[in-house]
Amino acid sequence: MRRYLLLTTLLLWKQDPVNSVRILELRVPAHVAEGGEAILGCQYDMEGDVLYSVKWYKDGREFYRYIPNSKHPISHFATPGVMVDVRRSSNTVVTLIHLSRDSSGLYRCEVSGEAPHFATVYDEKYITVHLLPETGPQLTGLQEKYNIGDRVRANCTSSGSRPEAQIKWLINNRVATKNHLRGPWYRTSLRPDAIETILELNFIVGSNHFRLNTMDLKCQATIAPLYQKETEHRVIRYEIPELNSNTEQPKLGEQSTPTFPEFGDTSQLQFDDDKDQATTSSQLNFCLLLLITFLQLTA
Ligand SMILES: *[C@@H]1O[C@H](CO)[C@@H](O)[C@H](O)[C@H]1NC(C)=O
Repeated sequence: MRRYLLLTTLLLWKQDPVNSVRILELRVPAHVAEGGEAILGCQYDMEGDVLYSVKWYKDGREFYRYIPNSKHPISHFATPGVMVDVRRSSNTVVTLIHLSRDSSGLYRCEVSGEAPHFATVYDEKYITVHLLPETGPQLTGLQEKYNIGDRVRANCTSSGSRPEAQIKWLINNRVATKNHLRGPWYRTSLRPDAIETILELNFIVGSNHFRLNTMDLKCQATIAPLYQKETEHRVIRYEIPELNSNTEQPKLGEQSTPTFPEFGDTSQLQFDDDKDQATTSSQLNFCLLLLITFLQLTA
């Protein structure tokens, strides 16, 4: 009997070597968001055979069946984490809705031809369900204004997610290095499987940090490949640089007291043209004064 079966199987196999079902493409997203939906696609080629069934399994458990010759071609079976939207499902597509943590797993599409061979092929892929943060990253502890020598100490918090978010701080669009950071810290939030991530930016402001008296601080939270959000904060330099103080004084209604130039300090001349001219004229005045004094003494 067994020999006979083997023989017929071999004969049948030999008779129609072309009639072998093939799966052309299994389109299953590797990463999906919790609460969202997923469209699973399974394209096949019957190679001349007739379709008997398309079946879908999650972790070895059948949850969907399509049999074209049946009165009700679509059947679906309760499986944890798998909710099928039948109206958006067919022989080549299954739509899953209300994805939850339990939806993660190995999904298989299995296609069978008609009797007598019931030639069956399958392909399978993993789906991982991520929990994305409800809000973008939140910044705390930042001031509006800083000056050179001040310490910036601020936290960036990405609310509960699974897996945890990767956080980056950027100073003027350049990723802050480790010596500018503390943390990260991880905390479980309301849901025990959701992790909140905190990263502290901690550095002393240098003159190189300001671009036209502003500094852009940005925090970026990423859960690859589904999620990336950022929050930006523009900081301004609060103290007007000292070299401008002379030109500012008349505005306050005070008489500008002539100051003797500091010859050694070239940095003052570098930035401010007005100041430069002022310095030159007071230098001239000083020379004149010396000359007059000299003339009076020699007279
Ligand atoms: C940032 O959060 C950590 C962890 O909660 C905390 O230890 C630190 O003091 C916070 N830093 C600031 C600037 O709030």
